[in-house]
Amino acid sequence: MGRIDDATVQRILDAADIVDVVSDYVKLRRRGSGFIGLCPFHNERTPSFSVSKTKGICRCFSCGKGGSPVGFIMEVEQMTYPEALRLLARKYNIEIEERELSAEEREAATERESMMAINEFAMQHFERNMLKTTEGQNIGLSYFRERGINDAMIKRFHLGYSMEQRDALYKAAVAAGFKGEYLLKTSLCLQNERGEWRDRFRGRVIFPVFTVSGKVVAFGGRTLRKDKEVAKYVNSSESIIYSKSRELYGLYQAKPEIVRKDKCILVEGYMDVISMHQAGIQNVVASSGTSLTEGQIRLIHRFTENVTVIYDSDPAGIKASLRGIDMLLAEGLMIKVLLLPDGDDPDSFAQSHSASEVEEYIAANEGDFIKFKTRIMLEGTENDPISRSRAINDIVRTISVIPDPMLRTMYIGECSRTLGVSENLLTLQVEKLMAEAAERRAADEQRERLRRQAGIASVDNHPPQAEPQQQRQEAPVVRTEAAKSSPLAPYEREILRYALRYGMLYLGDVVDVDGEVKPFNVIEYIVHEMAEDEICFTSAEFGHVFNEAVRLSRGDWQNDLARFTERQEQQRQQAMADGIERIRQECTDLASIQKAEKVLKERVDAEFDESIDTYTTEYLGRILASSADDTVRTLTVDLVNEKHKLSKIHTKYAHMETERDHLNDLVPMALYNLKAAMIELRICEIQVRIKEVQATSIDEALALMREQKDLEAMKVELARYLGERTISQRRFRR
Ligand code: UTP
Ligand code: MN
Repeated sequence: MGRIDDATVQRILDAADIVDVVSDYVKLRRRGSGFIGLCPFHNERTPSFSVSKTKGICRCFSCGKGGSPVGFIMEVEQMTYPEALRLLARKYNIEIEERELSAEEREAATERESMMAINEFAMQHFERNMLKTTEGQNIGLSYFRERGINDAMIKRFHLGYSMEQRDALYKAAVAAGFKGEYLLKTSLCLQNERGEWRDRFRGRVIFPVFTVSGKVVAFGGRTLRKDKEVAKYVNSSESIIYSKSRELYGLYQAKPEIVRKDKCILVEGYMDVISMHQAGIQNVVASSGTSLTEGQIRLIHRFTENVTVIYDSDPAGIKASLRGIDMLLAEGLMIKVLLLPDGDDPDSFAQSHSASEVEEYIAANEGDFIKFKTRIMLEGTENDPISRSRAINDIVRTISVIPDPMLRTMYIGECSRTLGVSENLLTLQVEKLMAEAAERRAADEQRERLRRQAGIASVDNHPPQAEPQQQRQEAPVVRTEAAKSSPLAPYEREILRYALRYGMLYLGDVVDVDGEVKPFNVIEYIVHEMAEDEICFTSAEFGHVFNEAVRLSRGDWQNDLARFTERQEQQRQQAMADGIERIRQECTDLASIQKAEKVLKERVDAEFDESIDTYTTEYLGRILASSADDTVRTLTVDLVNEKHKLSKIHTKYAHMETERDHLNDLVPMALYNLKAAMIELRICEIQVRIKEVQATSIDEALALMREQKDLEAMKVELARYLGERTISQRRFRR
């Protein structure tokens, strides 16, 4: 699958109408200037999902999900950005040219794409080997036959075979024009000391590993030999396209069924997944022999909250994997476990039972994880109080990671009964563990925050900050509250919001220090002001999104506006021509013709102005809300949609005034607030530090006091500056 060129992406984004797109999933009703319907992302009876045609954005006011047309599709279909674009392209009959890359283009393609392409090629090569060569049929295919795997599954999982010949893939790849460099980078081939090329997979059956969106990023190759001399499985090495801990085998194939059943079944190996799918249980994925990672858990959570882990009844294996389950619980997933009959693994079980038997077995035997863990942990501890209390502690720890308080309480009650320990004692223990965990998290965040603050301070040449430990003792009450994020974040967020929401609006004139008058739009004004005071966003996220907005406002904007204006100009002329035609037919005397034409011109001009104005206002928000960059897209949707009250202004003036009418006060004020907060923060830190050092180092204390005084002076100065730099004159109309 080639990439989609920028012009086509633009055409897709332009064509996608939010009301139209959402209507495919949600029944919409008109409400005010927009539309409203039942949210597709959570269960509700009264509609809170609203769609704004002009903004091109939808949003649930209850669960907060939504976005631009692409963002909405990504969420509702659980697709990646390019997948969502393809879906929209199909809907709007926009052709995406998919083609083979020429030799030069292949050269120019990024490393990732080259690696994906070579993997795709290798997968097809392995598939062809198995189905079309005698060796493949005799060895590979007959192996899968023996294990009861049918043709449909071989196709679905793109199973294949690697020839015994030591460089079969290498030769085929080079002949097809692929470069050795990428064969090495994907670890499909290697070069020995003598410079000879060797295939990694030889005489093995091949299991390609797909990403959630269906790209081949790795392979597993199983030996067909029964002896124990060689590794049973050889797997691709980690690379820039493959991180073992971030993929789940079978997820690509299982995704639709996981969503449909709202449940994911977790097994261990490649063969387990395939046999279960063949038996008709298709919501099955494997962690491929390693214990679960957080990345894999997040991946599952994108599709469902319900996970059933299947164990074969090997006790050692079970105990080893219990830890991984705590992570599933901590992520807020609902976990069940299923134990198979002695001697069975999912593969053998699915092969020896009918689909309905497997279904029934699962339904009848899957059980609650905590109960299961309790049973396993308590086994054999009846006469050993020490290992018994260790087991109880372990179970309590598991309960303490569950985010939902109701569930925790329920489990405490249940475990109290099975363990014979009082509920109060268990509750106490759970709370203690939770407090400890919160403490650890807060300490981590605090450290992170201080690092960021040190970053700000260094701009002003301040000395490094106090140790986190010391500060913790100073202000224990503030700590947890402040630790959530940088204290400057709300101020930075506000500035970013103005930039995204009103960035392209002509703000007015700024009078320079040397008296020069310069026109600025909102975003340029913010850039100018921040540069002047040498401040930047301390939040990397905010900074990144802001930079994107600035780039857009300086890049495509001029052209986009010109193009839009030209289209509107044509429409205006058309509307005038149509109107005049009608007037000529309806009116007879010259005076009324002239009057009607004057009215017509005023109306058409007003419409023209209005359309340009709307385009300008919504430009940044509309484009960035469709960005391929996750951070940019989500933050933009959040900020552009935020409801803002201007209660004071409402009551002061007779007519409804919006935030937009007061940008020339509000934007400088937001910048002022940030600067003032930065100074304030630094003053607080200095005061804390002074207390710490006044007994031990008078010199340092004095230096700090001087610094504090300077800062106080800056504060006054800043307030005065604000007055001077206030925007002198407003001219919103262009
Ligand atoms: P299993 O040994 O259970 O493999 O290991 P399996 O998939 O059920 O294969 P069969 O039934 O013996 O043919 C579980 C998973 O652990 C990984 C593989 O991903 C395997 O599917 N594994 C196992 C390795 O990566 N290397 C090994 O040597 C063994
Ligand atoms: Mn097996």
